[in-house]
Amino acid sequence: TFIHSRKLDELQYLHNTAVCVDTSGKIVAIEPECDQAKAESTLFPRLRWSAEEVMVTVGKDSQFFFPGFVDTHLHASQYPNVGIFGKSTLLDWLNTYTFPMEASLSSLPKARRVYTRCIRRTLAHGTTTAAYYATIHVEPTNLLADLCLSMGQRAFVGRVCMDQLGPAYYLDESPEQAIAATRATIDHIRGIDANFDLVSPIITPRFAPACSADTMRQLGELQRETELPVQTHVSENAGEIALVRELFPDSTSYADVYDRYGLLGEKMILAHAVHLSEEEADLIARRGAKVSHCPCSNSAITSGEARVRWMLEKGIGVGLGTDMSGGYSPSVLEAARQASLVSNHLVMPGGKLHELPQEEREKAKLSVEEVLYLATRGGAEVVGLRDKIGAFEVGMEWDAQLIGLGMVCEEAAEDDMEDEGNVDVFGWEPWDERVAKWVFNGDDRNTKKVWVRGRLVHERKEN
Ligand code: GUN
Ligand code: FE
Repeated sequence: TFIHSRKLDELQYLHNTAVCVDTSGKIVAIEPECDQAKAESTLFPRLRWSAEEVMVTVGKDSQFFFPGFVDTHLHASQYPNVGIFGKSTLLDWLNTYTFPMEASLSSLPKARRVYTRCIRRTLAHGTTTAAYYATIHVEPTNLLADLCLSMGQRAFVGRVCMDQLGPAYYLDESPEQAIAATRATIDHIRGIDANFDLVSPIITPRFAPACSADTMRQLGELQRETELPVQTHVSENAGEIALVRELFPDSTSYADVYDRYGLLGEKMILAHAVHLSEEEADLIARRGAKVSHCPCSNSAITSGEARVRWMLEKGIGVGLGTDMSGGYSPSVLEAARQASLVSNHLVMPGGKLHELPQEEREKAKLSVEEVLYLATRGGAEVVGLRDKIGAFEVGMEWDAQLIGLGMVCEEAAEDDMEDEGNVDVFGWEPWDERVAKWVFNGDDRNTKKVWVRGRLVHERKEN
């Protein structure tokens, strides 16, 4: 069984299906109504390989293949801090926890330990593509790119630019140095993955308050020159927004700051977008910039509740981000679950959208199908790979996860029930209910195998 999003509110269930992947990791054929015997008699002979060269992965009854998750926003350098945020909010959280941790990753051995763990953990949760922020340090950032390539995770790796606001011990020395360091990482990644097939650089102004006008102008020029993607934060927290207003008095909104420097375009990933004004959201939609919705983080550091339906209806592409370690979890499944709950909070009594008519309130809530779309196809659009990943279609690449739920057999005695994990499926549930159980109760114990571009990059060891 293969399950993927056909569109925002619809999952497609492909039972008894074979998905054929070639040795370069591309999906070359999808055969419905295909059991093992049919595959062997009619499908294998049509493939270009001999029987000995064909590898077959067969799912069991309670298992299904699902597209790999796309984490459109996370900080690999903050991984050691997951769960550590206390009662802080953005600006004091940055000073208390974040800048000291990031600064400490100037140490290459420490960076190696942290980044290896981060990649291993996110792969184990089914994240096949990640848009990473590293730190201001070039060599450790380049190491993150090396590790993504060797461990097989598709990634965008950003060397963080910040020449103001941060503490003296963690700042770029000048706009020129910030640009030179960004170029150094771009050149390094070109050297290890010439066409950016698996790992791509991404231009990363941390956020408007941390970048001087000069740095942003030069990063805008660098983007036009290289046509690389860009990532940053926008309208996350009230204090931050007030600071942007103070620092950039001529701009009409937070997003407008990026627009003035030519950064707000189709290749830009804007994380959070919690407190956008109507005009700001319209500007983002017009420019074709994308939004990474980070519900875990927005709740953890008390930023607010982003209006996902409202952004989608404006035509803005939205994906999910864990925003580790603003978010406490490395799991995109957790982000999907939190996206659902936050959309409910918006319309509850006291919520931002409670005053809307009943019908509008219902519509603002995100369904299981929709949050899974955001986790896969939505994310693929946000990172500019909508034709390549996020679903099972001929021509796309095999970035996938094999999900196993615990199947409780009718005949089995209580004490010898097959216990495959933490989510019990009794067999009578229709598939959409099994998927809902996975979304709300599942975790990495259910993620049995993970592939990127056809390569097996994670296999869960049962204890
Ligand atoms: N804004 C600027 N830097 C950060 C960061 O590291 N995390 C979050 N959540 N917001 C930011
Ligand atoms: Fe962030």
